[in-house]
Parts: sequence; structure tokens; C-alpha cells
Amino acid sequence: MSEVTLFDTHTHLNDPDLYDQAQVLIEQAISAGVRHLVVPGYDMLSSRQAIELSERFSEVYAAVGVHPHDAKTLTASDLHQLDLWCDHEKVVAVGEIGLDYHYDNSPRDVQQDAFLAQIDLAKKKRLPIIIHDREAHADILQILRNTDAVSIGGIMHCFSGSVELMRECLQLNFYISLGGPITFKNAKKPAQVALEVPLDRLLIETDAPWLSPEPFRGKQNHPANVRLVAQKIAELRGMPIEEIGAITTDNALRIFGLQGSLSRGLQNED
Ligand code: NI
Repeated sequence: MSEVTLFDTHTHLNDPDLYDQAQVLIEQAISAGVRHLVVPGYDMLSSRQAIELSERFSEVYAAVGVHPHDAKTLTASDLHQLDLWCDHEKVVAVGEIGLDYHYDNSPRDVQQDAFLAQIDLAKKKRLPIIIHDREAHADILQILRNTDAVSIGGIMHCFSGSVELMRECLQLNFYISLGGPITFKNAKKPAQVALEVPLDRLLIETDAPWLSPEPFRGKQNHPANVRLVAQKIAELRGMPIEEIGAITTDNALRIFGLQGSLSRGLQNED
């Protein structure tokens, strides 16, 4: 049997429900073919925990940032701490950041200010950004254009938009990351995007513990399930899962700047 290589580009092993099981979940993921994982922060504590996990496990890389839900908590000293964390050797992106107009847990102008400040940070550090966009497509695009985010690029995490929106994101130098929703029976838009996204801009993710793919919809998600996402894309596109795995892994290594730096070997896991 040929080997499948997978990269889960968005998995919250820093979530309180997964954090204590990180070792077991990573072992299960490795058994499923996962070679690398990026754990994004969503507030200051989870950003620090993402870095801790990256130090414990050679397969794990971290992103640091404050989610739009928590934008109202972001202080100047937090931004300074994020700036310091960005210099850590296993921090590969700023995220997840963006706008969430579905929940509006922080006021929209506050979300926009936090998003802008963290885009500035990413530009200063030359890191890509991981974007959370919920019902805020127009403002996200406008901010990405106004800030020249094309110069750093990044990832539209768990992309939920149309093919037309996908094309606008591609023009802005962004990658399209697909997760569990492409396996849902009513998921017409994500399936269409999975078919039409250029293969050199496609990424896969779980967003664990959220968004479990079928047949586990509604259950707690974990990084091994990224294989089900790859399998679904392979079916939709009529390609072997090995090829989808190899292409999306290459893409992830490129966007996170990890090409050529993978011969570190296993780190000590204390
Ligand atoms: Ni997330």
C-alpha cells in the first residue's frame, strides 16, 4: 500500500478539550498519515499553548494571534507579546485572526482594529496570516486589499465562500483551506470549491475539535480526521488520496516557509 502524507494546517490541540490528550491525538494522526500540524492560537493563553505544543512535538508548528471573538481583550502589551512570540523558531504564521459577523462577540470596529493590528504585525515579521471569515467576506477582502496583505499572503481557513469569492482570494495571494464541511451532504458550495480550486493553492485542515467530517459529524474532531477530508477531495476530483496528500503537504510547507527545514529529526518529547 502506498503511503499517504498529510498536513493538518489548522487544528486546535490547544483547545481545553484536546490539550491533555495531545500526545495520543498526535500519535493517532501520525498513524493516519499526518506528518505535520499547525496549531493556531485564538487568544493569548492558547497562543502560548500552541508554542508549548510545538516545543513538545516535532510534528507541531504554531501560529499566534487573537480571534475576532476575543478582539475586545487585545491590549497593547498583548501585541508586544505576540511580536516576541513571532520570533520563535516554530511560529509559522499569525492567526487565527479575522472577522466574525455571525456571533459579533466583539464589536465590529474593535474586530477590525485587532485584525489590522495583527496584519501589521505579520507584515513586520514576514509571516503569512490565517484568516477566520464568518459572514464578513466583503470587509475581509477590503481590508486585505487596503493593507497590501498580498505581500505576505496567507490562508482562508475553513473556506466557506463561493467559487467567485475563492477567485478573489486567489488573486490576493491566499490559499484555500478546506475542512470537514466538504463532507456534509448539503455542502454544495464547498464541494464546488474543492473541484475548482487550483491544486497549487489547496490546503486541508480539521479545525479540531470543531467541524468533524462525516461520518463523525457533530462529534469531537481530532487531527487524524484530516484524512477523511483528503479522501473526499480525492473522490470529488477523481484523484488518488496519495496525490492530494502530497500536493497539499507541499503547499503547506511552502506557505509556512518550511521547505528545506524538515530534517530536524525527532525532538525530545519531555
Ligand atoms: Ni480555528
